[in-house]
Amino acid sequence: MESFNLGWLLLVAILATSSLPFSQAFGRVKTGVFLSPKVELEPGLVSNKLYFDVDFPRGHIALKSFNAELVDDAGNPVPLYDTYLHHWIVARFFVRQGLGTRDISRLNSSDYISGRNSGICNDGTLDQFFGLGSETRKTATHIPDPYGIEIGNPAEIPSGFDETWAINIHAIDTRGAEDTMGCTECRCDLYNVTRDETGQPLSPNYKGGLLCCYDGTRCRRKEGFNGIKRTLYLRYTVEWVDMDSSITPVKVYIFDVADMWKRSRNSTGINSEHDCRVEYSIESCRATGSTRNVCIDNKRISLDMPFSGYVIYGVAHQHAAGSGSSLYRKGGRVLCSSIPKYGKGNEAGNESGYVVGMSTCYPRPGSVKISKGETLILESKYSNIKQHTGLMGLFYLLVAEKLP
Ligand SMILES: *[C@@H]1O[C@H](CO)[C@@H](O)[C@H](O)[C@H]1NC(C)=O
Ligand SMILES: *[C@@H]1O[C@H](CO)[C@@H](O)[C@H](O)[C@H]1NC(C)=O
Ligand SMILES: *[C@@H]1O[C@H](CO)[C@@H](O)[C@H](O)[C@H]1NC(C)=O
Ligand SMILES: *[C@@H]1O[C@H](CO)[C@@H](O)[C@H](O)[C@H]1NC(C)=O
Repeated sequence: MESFNLGWLLLVAILATSSLPFSQAFGRVKTGVFLSPKVELEPGLVSNKLYFDVDFPRGHIALKSFNAELVDDAGNPVPLYDTYLHHWIVARFFVRQGLGTRDISRLNSSDYISGRNSGICNDGTLDQFFGLGSETRKTATHIPDPYGIEIGNPAEIPSGFDETWAINIHAIDTRGAEDTMGCTECRCDLYNVTRDETGQPLSPNYKGGLLCCYDGTRCRRKEGFNGIKRTLYLRYTVEWVDMDSSITPVKVYIFDVADMWKRSRNSTGINSEHDCRVEYSIESCRATGSTRNVCIDNKRISLDMPFSGYVIYGVAHQHAAGSGSSLYRKGGRVLCSSIPKYGKGNEAGNESGYVVGMSTCYPRPGSVKISKGETLILESKYSNIKQHTGLMGLFYLLVAEKLP
């Protein structure tokens, strides 16, 4: 991997005026617009790289929103049918001082620590603070006052380490694709992939998903299609305020409907060991011989909550064919439902057939409480008129331990 510590900063820290939504009766909101390192693509090609030590607001602050989109080198939005934004992820690392700008994959593992979110996948997956995919342009991310995601707290940064930020961008250039949606679902036959990125043979039952569309793979194009190489960027806009006692911190939790977790018991009590598979596949309703006339796959999982607090914000992540995801209590009461919005036109942010946004939940603070030890049910629904691979059913929650 190249080293990406050059200047890709566009402009930083424009002080907000009182016309901005979060500025009333609250600390002054600052806005930064940043560009990721270059993402180089050509027709069919996949780019899936992790960029370390990217530009990000610094200091002891509270994040208020994170919005992003793919743009070309002239700054124009790139539509999903040209380049499918499979996902992007923003994660925190604590890196030993003096090594901050290095590629973490080249560091001794004792020189960095994942500064992961609060849970619940404790298996090294889904550690991110922010992350979305094709729905990025039409999904609200703002955190209402007086809440915010606290970062840069010197008391939480291990001594001798710096807090740094990394961005993973997974983009698929589908210009000229023979089967555009098949490419976005990472179908192994279209990528002609039979081994994973490390060279391990894939099971013949594995028809598609992230193991078949790793960095550098290529999806099948129409015969004779030629297209130019392009340089793209993830342009991300972050809003934040300086941290002070008027701000109530929220914690980030991510749940995965494909989590194969189990309870385990040791001498100190009962634990949950999570195995977040992150993606799953579904057969078509014809193949499964369903006699029901509604072809919907409803995947559900029960999860024990290892924390308590008040839900401030919730959103799900689903791919095309998704028809909604909900988090509810054992008795059936819904905590939050998040429904995909599909594009109907041609322009960026309204691409026909793609999930261009997810609806979000902003419960009245204090009205939705999760208790430690409570079991919640996560469900993720998809149309299974056709078979689908590489589907996701994630649920992202922001939770305040206490109210202001
Ligand atoms: C990594 O760092 C540890 C602690 O400083 C050291 O004991 C170990 O030898 C290092 N390993 C490598 C491969 O450099
Ligand atoms: C698919 O991969 C195989 C083995 O790597 C190779 O021999 C074959 O030419 C590839 N087919 C296409 C269409 O690229
Ligand atoms: C029991 O599990 C807890 C939580 O995972 C862990 O911290 C502790 O070390 C475990 N105890 C034993 C004896 O394995
Ligand atoms: C999306 O495109 C359709 C078709 O052109 C149009 O009717 C609709 O208003 C557009 N939606 C938005 C949100 O712009």
